[in-house]
Amino acid sequence: MKYFIFAFAIIFFYACGQKNQTLKTSQVYTETYRPQFHFSPKTGWMNDPNGLIYSDGEYHLFYQYYPDSTVWGPMHWGHAVSKDLVMWEHLPIALAPDSLGYIFSGSAVVDENNTAGFATPQCPKPMVAIFTYHNMEWEKAGRKDRESQGIAYSLDKGRTWTKYAGNPVLKNKGDVDFRDPKVFWHEPTKYWIMPLAVGDYLEIFRSNNLKNWEKVSDFGKNEGAHGGVWECPDLFPLGEKWVLIQNMGRGAVNGGSGTQYFVGDFDGKIFKNSNPPSQVLWLDYGADNYAGVTWANAPDNRRLWIGWMSNWDDYAQKIPTSTWRSHLTVPRELSLQHTENGLRLFQMPVAELGILRQANVTLNKNQVIDNQFVVKSDAIQKEIDLTFDMEKTTSQNFGFTLSNSKNELVEIAYDNDKKEL
Ligand code: FRU
Repeated sequence: MKYFIFAFAIIFFYACGQKNQTLKTSQVYTETYRPQFHFSPKTGWMNDPNGLIYSDGEYHLFYQYYPDSTVWGPMHWGHAVSKDLVMWEHLPIALAPDSLGYIFSGSAVVDENNTAGFATPQCPKPMVAIFTYHNMEWEKAGRKDRESQGIAYSLDKGRTWTKYAGNPVLKNKGDVDFRDPKVFWHEPTKYWIMPLAVGDYLEIFRSNNLKNWEKVSDFGKNEGAHGGVWECPDLFPLGEKWVLIQNMGRGAVNGGSGTQYFVGDFDGKIFKNSNPPSQVLWLDYGADNYAGVTWANAPDNRRLWIGWMSNWDDYAQKIPTSTWRSHLTVPRELSLQHTENGLRLFQMPVAELGILRQANVTLNKNQVIDNQFVVKSDAIQKEIDLTFDMEKTTSQNFGFTLSNSKNELVEIAYDNDKKEL
């Protein structure tokens, strides 16, 4: 394929350092396939990000974790914190399975008004985690009510957790898939709201103390895509509207697992989709972004999210890594923007990633020969920041190719007629 490149506003190549996580073992970063910018656990299996919350200057990242193997198993919540979303400090496991079940996905809140009553004089605003219990014994026995919701609280900035003695706080009436609570405080109605994935639709519950929950509505039985079970919802205000993120385990746009979203309004009880029910909006057209949800309480009103960079259906358990398996996407910032088709969600890698930049190389027009240029480099990691001047572009295709000495290559191209990357 021939590429036509018209104007390079900026081209930077950054040889980025190996320092996105404070890992103790010097070995870790030289392991084959170990991601250098993306979060991965030191060892063991990881899937969904959980309990994303910003509190006391720290971004908390909990995640579905099985420490004893590199395939999925009894789920724990692993834990890491970061001050900048780039350098992560690994912390001890936060939640482990107990007699009620494995600890599946969920969220975390700061209970500012002590609605649940877990506060102490030393810690007036406890952190509360809301998660799904999955009872494997009941699953094996064929019981449908195997999933329920539990809570736990932390009085020491998420370092240690106490499970609530009255768990589960939300029992299941017989839905095999009844999980992934993403709880937030709705100030206008002064209730905690819990969107919960049930089969292939959403149920919304509310509570004034995080312990007693009442169902207030359903959403989505006849809206959006239903190629697989719905999992890991997230509902939040963004600009003038509310956005509902809805992950779907199978049947997504590029095969296997993927993430759709809806734009609408939420009044504390009901989410109303602003688009036609049959319309499907995909948050990401790649095959490697699943179970993504957003950080609660991020500063400056930013809506930041991160996903599991894998795909249940296609290859999750087969990635050929050694001591660990799976990593997360880079964190991204969401915005809602007007387009000719209506309001759409846009995402950009967070600006903080710029702190990894080191030496840069700038190319200019003189280095373009025959509408092409070649850059050779020995660096293993780079950031490539390309700007094409569309006003000067008359060609149908342009882009770039990344290749190595084995002649393996990845082509990234823009089709100017179809306006497609
Ligand atoms: C999504 C998911 C969730 C569940 C968790 C179990 O990837 O299936 O629905 O809570 O993973 O690990």
